[in-house]
Amino acid sequence: MRKILIVGNWKMHLNASQASLLVHRLQERIKIYRDIEVVLAPSMLTLQPLSLQIDRRKFRLAAQNAYFRDEGPFTGEVSFNMLRDIVHYVIIGHSERRQLFHDNLATVRDKMAAAVRNEIVPILCVGETQQEREDKETKQVLHDQLMTALSNLTAAEVADVVIAYEPIWAIGQVTAKPGQVAEAVTYVRGYVRDVFGEKVAKNIRILYGGDVAPEVVHGLLDVPGVDGFLVGHGSLNYETFAAIVEATHRWQRNNNGEMAPVKGE
Ligand code: PGA
Repeated sequence: MRKILIVGNWKMHLNASQASLLVHRLQERIKIYRDIEVVLAPSMLTLQPLSLQIDRRKFRLAAQNAYFRDEGPFTGEVSFNMLRDIVHYVIIGHSERRQLFHDNLATVRDKMAAAVRNEIVPILCVGETQQEREDKETKQVLHDQLMTALSNLTAAEVADVVIAYEPIWAIGQVTAKPGQVAEAVTYVRGYVRDVFGEKVAKNIRILYGGDVAPEVVHGLLDVPGVDGFLVGHGSLNYETFAAIVEATHRWQRNNNGEMAPVKGE
């Protein structure tokens, strides 16, 4: 069974003392749930001190980005190799990186391989723009992003990857409707099934991201194949983030700890 995963992406917010305070508050607030994994993705600067502060039974850390070469003359960059003992996960291909920092399909592919090579689990973000949705190109966009990102990985490696469906029009704006999420998540898992096989498709975790708030958690978890969330601004407020975790726990309890079955299972 796939364990539910909730990732808080703090983006470029919080200095070291603010980040430490937020972790302190989250640690007070969030309980340990055996079936829910909670991950925090603070800025690069605060990863190291937070790695000493966090209660590892409650949280794991993720980097928001890294460079695909292990070392060398790359001014300003941090490698996956440098992060390997600090983080468990890394977010790769977030739309802000694709759009603002020109991470293209090939860069994302190389970062995926570098993460896996350094034993860091990639959280691959995929998703379409508003225009692409209107032009009915969503599946094509997802196809191209998945095809390149996963192209240098073996089936066994892909089985451990996390994929976050994050429609760009939803981020910081509006939660996608369960039907829209269902369609995209089904497509993503179907792609993985076609290319890497049934076992990998059953194992891989697929998250939804885009304006996730406590009120929408149940509706989204009801979508077959949604295994958790990538939360942006909602993760900066400890009450909101804790409420998202609590709502997830309540949903799990109501569903006897069973994930909604994935089509074909
Ligand atoms: P949001 O961001 O929750 O603020 O919409 C999600 C993300 O960008 O990962």
